[in-house]
Amino acid sequence: MKIREQIYKAIEGVYGQQNFSVEHPGDERRGDYASNIAMVMAKELGKSPRDLAQEVVVRLTKDERLMEIVEKMEVAGPGFINFWIRDGVLVDGLREMLKSGNHCLDSDFMSGKKVLVEYSSPNIAKRFSVGHLRSTIIGQALFNLYRHSGAEVTSDNHLGDWGTQFGMIIAAVEEKKLEVSKMRVSDLEVIYIEFNKQIEEEPELKDKAREAFVRLESGDESARKIWKACIEVSMKEFEAIYEKLEVSFEHQYGESSYEKMMPVIIEEAMETGVAVEGEGGALIVKFERDGKEFMPPAMLRKSDGTTTYFTRDLATIRKRLDEPDLKSDLYVYEVGSEQTPHFRQVFEAARRLWEDAKTVEFKHVAHGLMTVGGEKMSTRKGTNIKLEDLIFRAGEEARQRAKEEVAEDNAEKIGLGAMKYNELRRSPEINFEFKWEEALSMEGNSGPYLQYVYVRTKGILKNSRTQELKNSRNFRLNEDERRLASWLVLRVGGGEMVESAAKNFAPHLVCQTLFELSQKFNSFYDRNRVIGVKEQDLRLLLVAVTRLAIKNGLEILGIETVEKM
Ligand code: ARG
Repeated sequence: MKIREQIYKAIEGVYGQQNFSVEHPGDERRGDYASNIAMVMAKELGKSPRDLAQEVVVRLTKDERLMEIVEKMEVAGPGFINFWIRDGVLVDGLREMLKSGNHCLDSDFMSGKKVLVEYSSPNIAKRFSVGHLRSTIIGQALFNLYRHSGAEVTSDNHLGDWGTQFGMIIAAVEEKKLEVSKMRVSDLEVIYIEFNKQIEEEPELKDKAREAFVRLESGDESARKIWKACIEVSMKEFEAIYEKLEVSFEHQYGESSYEKMMPVIIEEAMETGVAVEGEGGALIVKFERDGKEFMPPAMLRKSDGTTTYFTRDLATIRKRLDEPDLKSDLYVYEVGSEQTPHFRQVFEAARRLWEDAKTVEFKHVAHGLMTVGGEKMSTRKGTNIKLEDLIFRAGEEARQRAKEEVAEDNAEKIGLGAMKYNELRRSPEINFEFKWEEALSMEGNSGPYLQYVYVRTKGILKNSRTQELKNSRNFRLNEDERRLASWLVLRVGGGEMVESAAKNFAPHLVCQTLFELSQKFNSFYDRNRVIGVKEQDLRLLLVAVTRLAIKNGLEILGIETVEKM
């Protein structure tokens, strides 16, 4: 049982009460854990919280099992009870972490559960945007977090490969007799933009586009051919990005794969009254509660008979509920915050339509806007070039800023790691400006800062092997050792870091915890000799576990470590 749970159970045993907490106090000097049990119970028992806390401490002191792990307890503030864990228990915890190797951060709080993470999801014939980059990086970290939480996880790249815009592209390609396979995604995008402009002057082009989309829908060979070529051209570019970022997906069901399901869903929505006829023969879903509209209506089928993004997302949910290898308990969508209203409508409509949608959880993890050089990266303005810089010039940036020469391969890992970390270290919804100086800073909360700790540990461990420590129960730790050990065992290990990050859909909690670990490690190492002192074995253990935790922690974030910097 985890240490936190052991404390919890012991307290629970005193009053049989369950509505209290055992948390890490904000200030480490106030112990490893703190409980508010006395404050919760005081009113009911008619006592002052501090008196009651004192009573609880006396009772707990008699609990022999608890006292095997707890060194001391103290009543603090308005009635908190603070707990200090025995040094020997921490040392045991370190040994256990070392033994579990690459599983040293794992939790099992989601074992038996299934999760689907949908992320990246760029659009065919449009350039990969900074939003897609954010989704790819954050989504991959979320995917990794669930895997390390014991869940069975699958991933889906929900490609935007359907919609009336393809009618325009097909019409333009046909008219201009273009050869799509020789084009780049940016060219396809230009065609689309230009066709849109042209429509303003020649409205009859609109009918051409509509007609082309109808042909695509009905399987017309030449329309399909152009559409397929668009997919090929786009996927080639997207795959180069995925390769660089080292991400891959278990599934890539584009929006087009839901095409056949849509009539069935529309039928169902009409029959159940979830959808009603709106203006001009369109089909809409209204969101009313007690006769009041709480969200704007969503369009299920336009008056010209075509389906919408909303319809396809409903079909997507139906498929994900029906197919055994997609069916999950939790569905995570990593998509920009501008789509928050859309997902609220989709999830709500799904729950109205289907019973089995009510028993699972849908979660939209929304990311904010990232700007580079003060501008929003807009495909229209051509500022999208910067996105390619972020991905394909990361190694170059790292090399230029490094003090010493860095090997090609390392520069790449440092640059990409810096870029990913910079994005992951803040809560997803936050808007921020990307700066290479900050991402590559060796002083702050950055990828290279953490990678450097890993390199340092290698230097220390190089000539010495960690020894089996015997009799760890009798170990006494000095302050630096204790801070580091307690952080490793009680915050990073035991599944604590992974669990809180996964529960909160928050990879940035991994960054924060690893960053603090690195700071503690650096203070420890600056003030304590490791080799050639009587504490050598214990200190080597601390170094080895730090190394392991950084490596595995960064891996969860999708960041590689390097052996030299
Ligand atoms: N392709 C969409 C876009 O780029 C994102 C798709 C998000 N996922 C979804 N299930 N709608 O805006």
